[in-house]
Amino acid sequence: MEQRWWMILMITVCLFVGSSGRGLKIKHKVDSPVYNHTLTTILVEYASAVYISDLTDLFAWTCSRCDGLTKGFEVIELIVDVQNCLQAFVGVADDLDAIVIAFRGTQETSIQNWIADLFWKQLDFDYPGCTDGKVHHGFFNAYNNTIMRSGILDGVSRAKGAYGDLKIMVTGHSMGGAMAAFCGLDLALIYGSKNVQVTTFGMPRIGNAAFASYYSQIVPNTFRVTHGHDLVPHLPPYYHHFPQKTYHHFPTEVWLYDIGLEFLIYPVEKICDGSGEDPECSRSVSGNSISDHLTYFGVELGCDTPSKCSIVMTPNLASYGDVDDNGNFALYREPKLRDQ
Ligand SMILES: *[C@@H]1O[C@H](CO)[C@@H](O)[C@H](O)[C@H]1NC(C)=O
Ligand SMILES: *[C@@H]1O[C@H](CO)[C@@H](O)[C@H](O)[C@H]1NC(C)=O
Repeated sequence: MEQRWWMILMITVCLFVGSSGRGLKIKHKVDSPVYNHTLTTILVEYASAVYISDLTDLFAWTCSRCDGLTKGFEVIELIVDVQNCLQAFVGVADDLDAIVIAFRGTQETSIQNWIADLFWKQLDFDYPGCTDGKVHHGFFNAYNNTIMRSGILDGVSRAKGAYGDLKIMVTGHSMGGAMAAFCGLDLALIYGSKNVQVTTFGMPRIGNAAFASYYSQIVPNTFRVTHGHDLVPHLPPYYHHFPQKTYHHFPTEVWLYDIGLEFLIYPVEKICDGSGEDPECSRSVSGNSISDHLTYFGVELGCDTPSKCSIVMTPNLASYGDVDDNGNFALYREPKLRDQ
């Protein structure tokens, strides 16, 4: 008897919460993907490693951040867009049975300037194939209309050719998270939604509600990790009075924050609702921290050198590369064939 009342109460609460929503609903997925903490703490190390400027170390996976949980990773393609200051890799992680793709965040002279600029990004580009879906052209172009896209597709197809059907995991931090999302969407349309998952850290908003809804149908297995007061996920701003016109995050956010009880601090990982804009997650606090932006799970995310777009490489690396007229290049090697 008591249980029944409890059920009725719960249902009433759900109806109430459901009907008080913000007018826009992201369609709920039939089988929601399950958040995997362990996997996320591995992927954050890939998102950190891709910032390394010494390409020789990165390509050989001997860099200072190429250790720990990512040991043994095999880089198949390393893509560097010197013109636009972008960097990404494609490789195979044996232990995950997956192709891992990671995008570096911005390497502007100052992260502060890049963030200040985020306030003014317009929803100025109609995402192809998505009715009413708008995104910011700069985020989209950085992935689609640079050497990045062809390099990634080439790396993925060579990895699949050598190892057969592997899952594809795409990750990135900050601007790299924005690129990871566009890449994941592209790959899910090519290889199927079930084969692609995306995990981003501290990414900005990249499109409007129609785009977010489209995105989450094509790449349902997406986790968008935010941390404490990290200000980048708050940008470009969300204007809840203008739900059709504003930027709108896609789901599923996972918000990392600390609960402090006197001198005990408990880290909490909160899995947020299916709206993409859960008011009880990162949006419940003000976005005012750059330091929260630069570490996730205690892993440093950001450049290892202070200078803009610096690249260090030994001459022998050139033998792996194709350089285009603008000096952009992709280094690649044939996958080692392993016994499967
Ligand atoms: C989570 O990911 C780890 C690392 O890939 C894997 O070993 C583990 O089985 C996964 N857990 C679940 C519940 O899928
Ligand atoms: C994305 O890039 C491909 C080439 O890689 C191009 O054919 C396509 O037109 C681009 N899409 C847009 C909308 O620019």
